[in-house]
This record gives sequence, C-alpha cells and structure tokens, in this order.
Amino acid sequence: MKTDYIGKPTSRVDGALKVTGTAKYAAEFSADGLTYGYVVSSTIAQGTIKKIDLEEALNLKGVLQIFTHENVSGLAWFDRSYKDEDAVAGSPFRPLYDKKIRYSMQPIALVVAETFELARYAASIIKVEYTTESHISDLKENIPNSFKAPKGKVGFKPPVSRGDAKEAFENAPVKIASEYIHSAEHHNPMEIYATTVVMEPDGKLTVYDKTQGVSNCQAYISKIFGLSAKEVRVMSPFMGGGFGSGLRPQYQLFLAVLASLELKRSVKVSLTRQQMFSFGHRPASVQQMALSASPDGTLQSIAHTAYGETSMFEDYTEVVVNWSGLVYQCENVEQKYDLVKLNTYTPLDMRAPGAASGFHAIESAMDELAYALKMDPLALRLKNYAERDQNDKKPFSSKALRACYAEGAAKFGWDKRSIEPRSMREGNNLIGWGMATGSWDAMQMKATANAVLTADGKLTVGSGTSDIGTGTYTIMTQIAAETLGLPIENVTFKLGDTLLPEAPLEGGSWTATSVGSAVQSVCTTIKEQVFKLAKKVKNSPFANADLKEVNFDNGEISLKLNPSKTLSITDVMKQSGKVSIEEEATTMPNPIHMLEYSFNSHSAVFVEVKVDEDLGTVVVSRVVSAIAAGKILNPKTARSQILGAVVWGISMALEEDSVVDNNFGRFINHNLSEYHVAVNKDINDIEVIFVEEKDDVINPLGIKGLGEIGLVGVAGAVANAVFHATGHRVYNLPITMDKVLGLSE
Ligand code: MOS
Repeated sequence: MKTDYIGKPTSRVDGALKVTGTAKYAAEFSADGLTYGYVVSSTIAQGTIKKIDLEEALNLKGVLQIFTHENVSGLAWFDRSYKDEDAVAGSPFRPLYDKKIRYSMQPIALVVAETFELARYAASIIKVEYTTESHISDLKENIPNSFKAPKGKVGFKPPVSRGDAKEAFENAPVKIASEYIHSAEHHNPMEIYATTVVMEPDGKLTVYDKTQGVSNCQAYISKIFGLSAKEVRVMSPFMGGGFGSGLRPQYQLFLAVLASLELKRSVKVSLTRQQMFSFGHRPASVQQMALSASPDGTLQSIAHTAYGETSMFEDYTEVVVNWSGLVYQCENVEQKYDLVKLNTYTPLDMRAPGAASGFHAIESAMDELAYALKMDPLALRLKNYAERDQNDKKPFSSKALRACYAEGAAKFGWDKRSIEPRSMREGNNLIGWGMATGSWDAMQMKATANAVLTADGKLTVGSGTSDIGTGTYTIMTQIAAETLGLPIENVTFKLGDTLLPEAPLEGGSWTATSVGSAVQSVCTTIKEQVFKLAKKVKNSPFANADLKEVNFDNGEISLKLNPSKTLSITDVMKQSGKVSIEEEATTMPNPIHMLEYSFNSHSAVFVEVKVDEDLGTVVVSRVVSAIAAGKILNPKTARSQILGAVVWGISMALEEDSVVDNNFGRFINHNLSEYHVAVNKDINDIEVIFVEEKDDVINPLGIKGLGEIGLVGVAGAVANAVFHATGHRVYNLPITMDKVLGLSE
C-alpha cells in the first residue's frame, strides 16, 4: 500500500466526530458552577445612555451581577497601541467602555446569572433611557463626505492608477459607464458566537471561544486584562463556519472573560441570532465603472471607483478596485477607493472581502462592453488577457486562467450560446447564459508546527491554526502522513489551542499554504532524524545510503534500488532505544520570490439561469466553475470548498441583503427568516473543474489556497446570465423579482 495522500480525495478525518455530535463547539463546553451571561443590545444608533436601571433585575434571586459602563471602569483596559491581527486603522471598539452609543445593537450590558433563562429574563427587564442623537446610515447619500481609505490593515493595498484613463475614455469609439450597488451582507455561520470561560482552581483561565485565531484572542485578552500568556489558554477545536466573522475577537469573548475575572466563576456567553448582526458584515458599497475599447475589443481604459462604508471609530478597508488593474491587460487604468463613515459596526472581512463585490462590478461592466462591441463575452476576456500583473509590474508565478476559460466553456457548452439577449427560451422561461472571471491572492504567512513521533509509529502534529469547516484537520493529516510515509490512521493533527505553536489567523485562503508548509517542514525534519537512527542500527541496510536513496512508505524505510531491504520506523525506534522524537519548524514565504512574482488563483464561472417572464423569478439551473489554484491537496474537500462558495455566490446574487432601516439606523431583517440565503431548492447542477496548474515558485507544495476563489465571479456571472435572459440589467444586488421586472431598481 502506498502512503501517498497529497492530491488524493481523502474523507474528512474529523467527519465521524462531527456527524455523531462528538465534536464540541465553544458553547458546548461546561464547568462546575458554570454561570451564564446574556448581552443587552442598544436600541438606538447614535447618542448616549442617560440612565440604566438595573435594580429590578439585580433583585432576582440567582442574578449574580450586571456589568455596564458604570461599573467596569478601573480595568487594565487596552494598551491603546494594541491592534488585533485583523484590525484596521482607527480605535477598536471597546464594549462597556463609556456611555456613548455608536451603532445600533451595541452591547451595553451583560447580565450574569445562575441559568441562561434567568439571565435572559433579567436582561429583558433592564430599563435604559437614552439621549438620542441623529445618526448617519445611508451610504449613497453620504458619499459627498467620503475620504481616501487609509492604510492600516494587513494585506490592504491602496489602489494605483496608470496611463490616462480619462483621455483614453474620451477618445475611444466604444464605451460604457455604469454604477453598481451592494447592500451590506452578514456572514451568518450556522454556529452562533459564544465563549465559555473556565476558571481553573488556580485562577487561570481556559477559554473556549469561537474564533479563527486562538493566539489573536489570547493576545487580546492578555492586553485588556493585564494577564500573562500563561494565565490564559484559548481553545477552538471546532468551528461551525466562520467566513471571516471570527478573524477579530468578538465582544462576547471580552464580556465572558470580564465576568469570569470579576465573579471568580466560570462563565458562558452566547449571542443570539439577532446579535450575530451586531459585530461586522460585508460593507455596503457603491461602485462606478467606466470601460472603453477599440472596435476589435482591445481595452482602451478602465476606471473603477468604489465607496465603501465604515464605522465611526475605525476605517475598514478591503481591496475592491485593484482587481480591475490586475485582471485585464490595459494601459490606462484609474482606480479609486474611498470610505464613508456611518453609524454601524466596523465592517469585517467576509469570504473574498473586496473581490466578491469588486468582481461583480468589473465583470458586469465587461459584459456590458461585450454587448456594446457585439462581441462574445468570453472572446472579450481572451482579447484582453493579462500575461503579467500590471499593477505590480511582475510576472505571475503561474496563471492557468486560459485553461479555466477553455475547460469551463467546453464543459458548459458555451459555443452554443446565441449572442442576443432574450434569444433563448423554454416555454415561459427566458434562458440566459453568463460568465465571469475571478481572481484572489495566493498568500503565505509565517507559521510554526511541532511534531512528535512515538516508538509505536504514531505521529502527532500540531499547530495553533483553526478549521472553520474547510478541512484543515484533513489536509494537514494528509501532508504529515505522506511526508513521513505513515498510514494516515497513524497520524493525528491538533489545532485550535494556544499551547500549540503559533499559526496565523485562518483567513485569506493562506492556511493550506502557510500551515501546510510548516507541517511538511517539521515532518521532513522528523524523517531526517529517523533516517539518522536507521543508519546506525545493527546491520543497517542503509549504513551507506543517503536520504535521497530511500523511500518512506507505509511505515517502512526501503532502498529505492533494492526495495527488499527494509526497516520499519517502529523497529528503528525500538533498536535505537528511542521513546519519541520531537521537532518544531517555522516556515515563511520565500522573500525573493515575493519580490519577483505575483501570486494569484483564478477562476472562470459559467452560469445558466431560467427567468420566468411573468414573475421575474430567477433559477440558476447550471453552474460550471473552473478553478486554477495550483496543486489540489484533496480533490474531495477542495470540491466541497468550491461548491459551497458557488452556492454562496448564487445567494449573494439573488438573495442576501442586510436591510438598513434609515429611520433607526438598524439592520431590520436580523434573523434567518428574513435574511435570505440560498437553500437546497435554490441549487441545481454545479460542476467544479480544477485545471492543471503546476507552480514551482509559490511554495514547495505548489498550492495556492481555495477558501475564497470559488465565490469570486459567481455573482457577476449570474447577473450577466440574467441580462442575457431578459435584456434588462439589474445593477443593485440582490437581483430580486421586482428588479428583474423593472418595478424597482
Ligand atoms: Mo476569510 S474573509 O479571510 O476568513
């Protein structure tokens, strides 16, 4: 049996734990004498708390304490310069810091009681009086007050322009200009945000938190409460979806730790589904696109301006417009990205932040241009294919986007498309075919992993990363097992614990690359150690052999040229008198390659929609998503990643909409019955293709990450298909039936 696992469709190693309910999530941990917190949320968006009357609630038997801004002063609070790993420019929100209200549903009190029900009831009888001030919540109306997006966030690149887009646009024979609007969207993972703080007998804290970064949360708690890292252990073994919502420490973490330290008790704080709409979202945006071309389709200019919302206290930034200058060959590019301050919580990275909304605008505009040129939309993309990254003036480490276009189009049957809108029909349904391009950054961060090989041939590898449902446990186990040539069932991967070596936040699609590299590196070191021992055992067949001359497979070492000469790893350990071998390794991206190349994954998405001519309802009947993302570690979990992202893209295009009532400055559909997401009935045929993409530059594993690329482009492809079906372009997502019928914009 070959122990080659990389590139093989391996089932999730944590699958059985999950489907049997054995996997424990943050709110499922318990402790002796556990107490329960319930958060009170503000009902206004801007103003101050005049009076907060706790008396009746505090008098209830079993209510232990109610924390408000009036009784938490005297905390060590933050080192003001401290920023969490995903922080943006500005001053991070501090729960219960003062009487000011900066956004609707701001947490203003935490009730702690002996039971959850009691805490919830007590919270309901707290009387709050506010001095209400006028709030700002309408992005479009406030664009005149926009300002240039500042730096301050890891990975944010300010937009760059080149050439003269204005002049080229003026002089070009074919041109289009349009505006795209996105309302806010919320991550809405299945698992609710929760923290269980266990106060250990020695006063130390064990914190089970829902987070995409345990060390980020540990540092945050330590800074606020003046604790050492030894006094706070943060764990997050499983996560029921993140999508970016767990990149920053959420306020229930702060509140639970505060209460635990003050009461010297274990405390659990779990938010409600409504409160899941109170701590970050994909920002609403307004985007303006202007494209021009010569009659043969050669792009003459691209101008892309985006206005994104941010909060009153921080300036959230994401890369929205730079994709325009990256994805197509064009000499005249103008890119602008400004922010508008609103009374809202600071927006938060949400799967493919910036790209998901940016590419909808770019790819819809390219579609419009194709119709203006009377050109096939795919032919227009191919005509302007970018061989190099013109933003950064570098070659790509690899770019198999052409193959995505070709294989995706072939699978979809794109060549059978009639070019005119409203030209394809099936009874009462107008049929539309649309396509779009996508791209995402392929990033690598510093990461550390450790590994212990024991005499019984079992390997335990660990790194403080997380698995937000993406398959981290599985792919790390595959990499470790293959590197050391062990059967996969002999390998255990541990994550989500600050006692493990530090890993970056799980985000940005960089975990497979970053943590995978560290795992590969530490297992290679263990392999070298084992081989050293193997050479020294009595009558070793490898005494004069080099590591390159042997295979590690199925727990055995053998000579490549004489495979009958073998020694098992357990034999080597036994004969050497070794109980275990333990190693640690840290990996980083290659700094020279970083300077010389651009690293991107790419996609081509093809969509068929059926639009009921009378009702305006849109059904996405077919999707083909072709992905170029380097080597695919696990085709099974990788396909699931892309499937999930395509489902989300359909949801984004047709359904997701966090509606702000400007009278109250508040998200009013803050529940899963009114915030619509795609469900089973909305999903039909989805085909995922991974095109061959060999990349020797990017990292030793040749991988690019898959967390976000599957979403980029989908909304644009759906929108383009709806136009092809109906001849009516909807510029404002989501594309609901009223907009399709032209009854609203
Ligand atoms: Mo992702 S939005 O970086 O979790």
